[in-house]
Amino acid sequence: MPRTIFVVGSSSGIGLEIVRLFSSKGWNVVAASRNPSASEELQALQSQNAARLLLVALELTDQDTFAPALEAAIRTYSTIDVLLNNAGINFLGAFELLSQEQLRKQLEVNFFGPAQLTRLAIPYLRSSPTETREQSLIISIGSGSGHFAIPLFSYYTASKFAFEGLTEALHHELAPQGIVVKNVVPVGGIKGTKFGANNLPEAEPLLVSSLMGQQLDLSGEEPDRRKVLEKYVAEGARTMGKTMTLSDQAEGAKSAADVAAVVWEAVEAGDGSFRYFVGAEGNPFVEARYGGAVWNDEKYMNKTRQFFA
Ligand SMILES: NC(=O)c1ccc[n+]([C@@H]2O[C@H](COP(=O)([O-])OP(=O)(O)OC[C@H]3O[C@@H](n4cnc5c(N)ncnc54)[C@H](OP(=O)(O)O)[C@@H]3O)[C@@H](O)[C@H]2O)c1
Repeated sequence: MPRTIFVVGSSSGIGLEIVRLFSSKGWNVVAASRNPSASEELQALQSQNAARLLLVALELTDQDTFAPALEAAIRTYSTIDVLLNNAGINFLGAFELLSQEQLRKQLEVNFFGPAQLTRLAIPYLRSSPTETREQSLIISIGSGSGHFAIPLFSYYTASKFAFEGLTEALHHELAPQGIVVKNVVPVGGIKGTKFGANNLPEAEPLLVSSLMGQQLDLSGEEPDRRKVLEKYVAEGARTMGKTMTLSDQAEGAKSAADVAAVVWEAVEAGDGSFRYFVGAEGNPFVEARYGGAVWNDEKYMNKTRQFFA
């Protein structure tokens, strides 16, 4: 009997590649997306594989959409074997200039939404592998930003650290329930996603201008405020320049298809391994944290500070 994967955030990037890969392997795939009928890619895949690909609507900021999406999956395929928490957004910009409302949305999409969806999916996952005796899994798509902090990414970092902690705790907590929790962690920019394009419109405008190399007219600001803003513009240009070595333009950057392949490996492993980094080779922060050398916290913080200095 084909197994079933429920993919959250499936219209682009990593989620779309996971839908493609698992469909090609003969799985039942539930592709959850805010607006499935608006995605040409999902519609095209569905028309080629109508019996094994179910498109469902799910909006992470609206928890009322969660139960109907899960119930549709169970009605169609009877089980959910793998829950793939993939969706994510990034409010880029200086903490001081972003709003509290944006922080709430950041956490709603990257943390509270996936947490509640996971809670609702657990009973289905617990009862799913009865016939095949294969594993039930929850897989989180984390980020390097769940392990190290980058200036001007404070909202995203906070959400990914929180999600990382939840995922790690659930790995231990759900093992006795027969559910394996794994964490796939893309590090640095991933090619073939819409992460930049999807998130740029909501980034803090000052940072966007400095990113685009646009001259900002701050003449209307009172002098003290202008000095503050000019510092953020300079900080934005410098930091974004530094992070280019970690971006999807960097040599050796991994692709969304590479991440999907690691998700496949994690599902097929049939073991209890937890973390799968993708693209971490040579990353200075991952090396400092996990490279095997003994780094005390002061040394780690100094190394990361020097990177951005
Ligand atoms: N791209 C990178 O460089 C990179 C690096 C490290 C980690 N990651 C992580 O990888 C994951 C996938 O991102 P991606 O790179 O594939 O970017 P992406 O192309 O922007 O895809 C993210 C998906 O998140 C979904 N989403 C956004 N807001 C949502 C909401 N309110 N409710 C439900 N779904 C929502 C969207 O799915 P729908 O349109 O289908 O609703 C979107 O397709 C994210 O968790 C991201 O943090 C990305």
